[in-house]
Amino acid sequence: MLLTMSNHDLAVIVLAAGKGTRLKSSLAKVLHRAGGRTLAEHIVRACAPLKARDTIVVVGHQADQVASVVEPLGAVTVLQQPQNGTGHAAQVAKRALGRAKFALVLPGDAPLVRTETLKALMATHRSGNASATILSAVVADPSGYGRIVRKSETAVSAIVEESQLTDEQREINEINSAIYCFTLEDLWPALAQVKPNNKHHEIYLTDAIAVISGKGQTVLAEVAADPREVLGCNTRADLAEVDRIFREWKRSALMDAGVTIQLPETVLIDPEVTAGEDTVIEAGVQLLGKTKLGVRCSVKTGSVIVDSNIGDDVKVETHSLVVESRLENGATVGPFARLRTGTQVKSGGRIGNFVETKKAVIGEGAKVPHLTYLGDAKVGPKTNIGAGTITCNYDGFQKHPTTIGKGVFIGSDSVLVAPVRIGDHAYVAAGSTITENVPADSLGIGRGRQVNKPGWAAKKRRELAAAQNPRKSSRPSARKKSPRRAKRRR
Ligand code: UD1
Ligand code: MG
Repeated sequence: MLLTMSNHDLAVIVLAAGKGTRLKSSLAKVLHRAGGRTLAEHIVRACAPLKARDTIVVVGHQADQVASVVEPLGAVTVLQQPQNGTGHAAQVAKRALGRAKFALVLPGDAPLVRTETLKALMATHRSGNASATILSAVVADPSGYGRIVRKSETAVSAIVEESQLTDEQREINEINSAIYCFTLEDLWPALAQVKPNNKHHEIYLTDAIAVISGKGQTVLAEVAADPREVLGCNTRADLAEVDRIFREWKRSALMDAGVTIQLPETVLIDPEVTAGEDTVIEAGVQLLGKTKLGVRCSVKTGSVIVDSNIGDDVKVETHSLVVESRLENGATVGPFARLRTGTQVKSGGRIGNFVETKKAVIGEGAKVPHLTYLGDAKVGPKTNIGAGTITCNYDGFQKHPTTIGKGVFIGSDSVLVAPVRIGDHAYVAAGSTITENVPADSLGIGRGRQVNKPGWAAKKRRELAAAQNPRKSSRPSARKKSPRRAKRRR
């Protein structure tokens, strides 16, 4: 009987119940992150384009947290308790299965696998009329992985786990990725025959292969074109390596799309980040979350941008942190700026060094060049905020807004006590503490009047010098100094 496989007949089963003992972590293995996502999320996303009828994730350790990651992606979860091995996990998944004929079974810890590879695996399974098709890989160092034992060039007889290898089998460098396509009517009876014949007393899914093959049913192994795709994350070192590969793939994709990346291996870019042509990313930059950059932007060394929307021709100077903000075309930020959530810099606006902003809108062409804090503030177009300006937006209980009109000049070192409004084209004198609104076209001054005391400083210096050197001043001659000498010394 020639089996045909439509996606309507396909279930995806992700085995994600294990603890990940080798990671030495309080966090379940599949919740660890690599390449900007949890391992569980990577796998479910890689399978999503297959449009399987069911996507079942077997959960155990920290089941609720794993469910909260995979269920929003359309997967259903089933609980495996206790975790009696990968074969047992597959049996548990059966509970949630609908009328699928085929299952793509994947481990939760091999997140680099690509959709195209999964499609190719399914095609091989279908065209080979197989009961099981294994995704394998030929690697230089197979240690730690199950080995593929072939009975002919095309057919597989067994998978042998590392701990059960004979000396001869140890030489095999074709490994099991733990990604398989099964014909379910052949898998279930085979699994039922598998015994927990290993030191952990677990039911290994790998042992089902020998059972299926032993019945004369077809077991194939398809060698992955890129062996990196099947890397499993069992240790922290594995996680670091997988992260490195994800980052490399992402940077390559952006470079292919016309983005310049200097010293690419120092640049960290999350999977959902986009950037337009001729944008230049310097060494040591991080672009995280859902950040989007337009064309011809430049992000200088050491800057970190998180979940932000960046227009065209925007410059982010060195060592700036931009979080959940929006920078419109031609805006400039930094160096050493901190833009917090809700900052918006309109076209041609400029935020300079040592400026912190939070929920602040900087109008078109407005400038905040240095040493300023703007919180809950609105700055009109072409307004200039002097160095050292601070909005006092918090009274210890509530946040209050500061509204600054267009074409305003705020003198340096001004304190704007919110709620307060500065009208269009107004001036605020340097060093002012502004507690009341300043009307349009007016000057607001809120500071003590200056008083100059002539000679005060010189006199003070003499007093201080004398106090510092009492021996000199306590000498008898000094005590009985003539009015003439005293006058000369003054
Ligand atoms: C497994 C394979 C090995 C393969 C390697 C590839 C088995 C016995 N061995 O070994 O042949 O080369 O993957 O990476 O399958 N899990 C459960 N429930 C359990 C046990 C495990 O859901 O009771 C899940 C884990 O969470 C994990 C996956 O199954 O996501 C694989 O388990 P893991 O312990 O990582 O198996 P490996 O030793 O890597
Ligand atoms: Mg593993």
